[in-house]
Amino acid sequence: MELEHTSINDALAQGYWSVKVVESIDSTQTALKSSSPTHGDVIVAEYQSAGRGRLDRTFESTTGTGLLFSAFVKPNRDKSEWGFIPLLVGLSVAEVLGIEFFTKWPNDILSDLGKVGGILCEMHGDGIVIGVGLNISTTEDQLPVPTASSVFITTGQSPDRNQLLPAILKEIAFNLSEWEAGDSMEDLIDDYLDSSATMGKRVSAQLPDGNTIVGTVTGISSNGELLLDSGAIISVGDIRHLSIN
Ligand code: BTN
Repeated sequence: MELEHTSINDALAQGYWSVKVVESIDSTQTALKSSSPTHGDVIVAEYQSAGRGRLDRTFESTTGTGLLFSAFVKPNRDKSEWGFIPLLVGLSVAEVLGIEFFTKWPNDILSDLGKVGGILCEMHGDGIVIGVGLNISTTEDQLPVPTASSVFITTGQSPDRNQLLPAILKEIAFNLSEWEAGDSMEDLIDDYLDSSATMGKRVSAQLPDGNTIVGTVTGISSNGELLLDSGAIISVGDIRHLSIN
């Protein structure tokens, strides 16, 4: 089913989200940033010709098979704490997709069959642009890389994106408000760790300076950093899971 402006926005009538649906665009992330967005503005696209991932990577998705959107918010907490937002978004997505889906620190959504999607959060003015790309109805032959998967490949079902997008946006709004209230940080971290395929794993972390750290993950900090048993604290890096459990 195609993305429908009316059914998406009707489902979001009670909140602050306002969703613009486009057929084809270079990148919802780039487009939202150049639109002088206000709190709650969202762009969702059937196709992106220049979808962007973290660390200057590309993000590709066959027309109509993915859920590709960017949302602008002005979080009501100090900017120094915004490192938790990508994790909060990943938690929200995993909660809505269901128990077969996990987060992988810092920004991936996984199933047992591979990477189903990713999250790209970028500061913009006094807010943040939250980009989410998920493979929904993508079939094996449409996957951009063999290590990827999709909701359809994992579950045999393709949820209607006109229901999925409002559900994810509502969950993000709910978790953001919990986080902004500040008194449920421990619950949010617990929920995140429950959703995490990285927690408790032996990992190798490739750091931006080229160094690699190996250790077992013991938790995350309230700013979203990954904590290792060696005492190492990782704020940016690429993680490889070395152990299965
Ligand atoms: C990653 O896996 O590194 C993050 C991928 C984020 C992709 C989404 S798709 C919607 C939004 N627009 C973009 O250009 N990127 C994000």
